[in-house]
Amino acid sequence: MSKVIQTIDQMKEFSKNSILSKKSIGFVPTMGYLHNGHLSLIKKARSQNDIVVVSIFVNPLQFAPNEDFNTYPRDFEKDRVLCEQNGVDVIFYPGYEEMYPQNYQTYVEVSFLSKPLEGKSRPTHFKGVTTIVLKLFNIIKPTRAYFGKKDAQQLIIIKKMVEDLNLDVEIVPCEIERDIDGLALSSRNVYLNAKERSQAVCLKKALDKAKELIDAKIYDSQTIIKNMKDVINSYDLARIDYISINSTDCLSELKEVVLGKTLISLAVFFGKTRLIDNMWI
Ligand code: PAF
Repeated sequence: MSKVIQTIDQMKEFSKNSILSKKSIGFVPTMGYLHNGHLSLIKKARSQNDIVVVSIFVNPLQFAPNEDFNTYPRDFEKDRVLCEQNGVDVIFYPGYEEMYPQNYQTYVEVSFLSKPLEGKSRPTHFKGVTTIVLKLFNIIKPTRAYFGKKDAQQLIIIKKMVEDLNLDVEIVPCEIERDIDGLALSSRNVYLNAKERSQAVCLKKALDKAKELIDAKIYDSQTIIKNMKDVINSYDLARIDYISINSTDCLSELKEVVLGKTLISLAVFFGKTRLIDNMWI
């Protein structure tokens, strides 16, 4: 049975007791509406820790006013059952006032890494992410925390925050989970209508094209991006936000792919729905 904790004090007390009894805590931060991507993080956490904590909190701070905070899908009851079925010990499910009481004033920002890629289209997003993740780390005090590679920039930024602020938590990166046709799993996929959903596979197809070129030893970024654009543009409902080739350490744009150190990422709109995907080379 997963225990649901809604207050910071109770969560801190639970973590304190777990640490006193020398139990490791694996933590999976989520915004709920759990899918197989989240479940793969939970399974990994379950296999590596004594205690597994999942947080469910749709963090208003990481949504811009024009984004989908109000409509973001939520289904706590379904999430609770999934957590239970996957051996989660605690679901931390705080309310907004609990996390951001009136007169809340403190924010955490990883400055340069938050600017490119997603940061260009969503300039305040990562400040919201790092602020909530640091708060959750302080409350839950995890031994390990699990983040999907699907949100590649988020993962890179969290690692940097942990390094810069000397946090005692091991960040465990987890592989991207995909649907049968290759679409990366995301809670936002539910926004797609049938036609958009069938075309959404183009992100993976564009990444496959990049992989094909790299396997043929074509490393020039412009050539790869041009080929990826051609793939996406052959789908009439897709509108490219960006396609970019960056270094995995400082996220600077690369003229050429460097094997083992390159992130190829893209964001594509289908109507109002913005999908992201990436590949670590
Ligand atoms: O990846 C997410 O779902 C969110 O950005 C996170 C890490 C739970 C913070 O709100």
